[in-house]
Amino acid sequence: MTTNFKVLRWLVGGAFLAATLAGCTSFPWAEKPLSEQPFAPIDAFAQNQEMGRGVAVLAGDPGWDDPAKARFEPRHFGLIHRAGFSTVRMVLNSFDHMDASYKLDPKWLARLDVMVQAALDQGLTVILDEHDYEICGKDAALCKVKLNAFWSQVAPRFRDAPNKLVFEMLNEPHEALTAELWNQQLVETLAIIRASNATRNVIIGPDNWNGIEALPKLELPDDPHIIVTVHYYHPMEFTHQGASWVPQYKQLGVSWGSDADYALLNKELDFVKAWADANKRPIFLGEFGAYENGAMADRAKWTSAVARGAEARGFSWSYWQFDHDFIVYDIDKEAWVEPILHALIPPSDRLSGSRPHMASVAM
Ligand code: BGC
Repeated sequence: MTTNFKVLRWLVGGAFLAATLAGCTSFPWAEKPLSEQPFAPIDAFAQNQEMGRGVAVLAGDPGWDDPAKARFEPRHFGLIHRAGFSTVRMVLNSFDHMDASYKLDPKWLARLDVMVQAALDQGLTVILDEHDYEICGKDAALCKVKLNAFWSQVAPRFRDAPNKLVFEMLNEPHEALTAELWNQQLVETLAIIRASNATRNVIIGPDNWNGIEALPKLELPDDPHIIVTVHYYHPMEFTHQGASWVPQYKQLGVSWGSDADYALLNKELDFVKAWADANKRPIFLGEFGAYENGAMADRAKWTSAVARGAEARGFSWSYWQFDHDFIVYDIDKEAWVEPILHALIPPSDRLSGSRPHMASVAM
């Protein structure tokens, strides 16, 4: 036993020495942590395939103001990865963390670094989603200044990060940020990102809350490193029943799952696919979810139908959201909400660790 161990140690040591002398890094023990891998450009369609299944994290987490009060901890990335997700969409409300000259708080940035590194080290794709859509929907001029200030600081900070870090320019432009203004704004903001990240993939969606019906109004520059995002919550009467922020959907007891419901869902996803094919862009279904007031069985049916429908059309997706509301994970109980998790990641995939069966998309 002792002799065998000595031989093994000699073999491993010899191989390590040989690898070092040859400048070879293909031995796993000689490799850097995933978060320190160098950036290499990746085709937007290939990246989108790799993104696969994701979940939104860190929205409004108290840890952004005081890490001691955090609900979401770096260890949750491991749980997310082991459950079968390959992507996290980090929801960033940065505008509240800027000083009068729009400089981001160094403590907030340090927290961001910790989270990005921890998620990348789990092998997850990390999307930095600037999520100050409420301010942007009210005041397009203020949005322009703050959004550009955000990317002027954050894009160079992550210029050398591995390609598994992806930027999402702005969540759900709407109202004051009309299609016309947004089409101008996105060109300006993309130029700021491109000054330090010439080929990193950037996620951009249409106006009207990234609604699918707004896709035809989206005008993108001739840049191949763009992934297009849309959000899907149809029918709102079902997914947002009783949600306080949309009082028009106060009626409870709305069900989902008839043949007509499935047919409408498929028709709408087909509309997105037709736009993607015609415009030769990969699609990231960046948000979908059904609020807690609906019956769990119907919520699970809807969630599964949207996720499988997206995958069948070659879209990557990210569920809204891990914590807070629409939850797939109960941080207070440290337990998955099993019906929602299983709707998102079928248990058979979870056990085998297999990747989602995404249809390939024309490039
Ligand atoms: C918003 C959330 C909202 C969700 C569903 C997200 O983009 O940030 O506040 O709960 O959409 O309505």
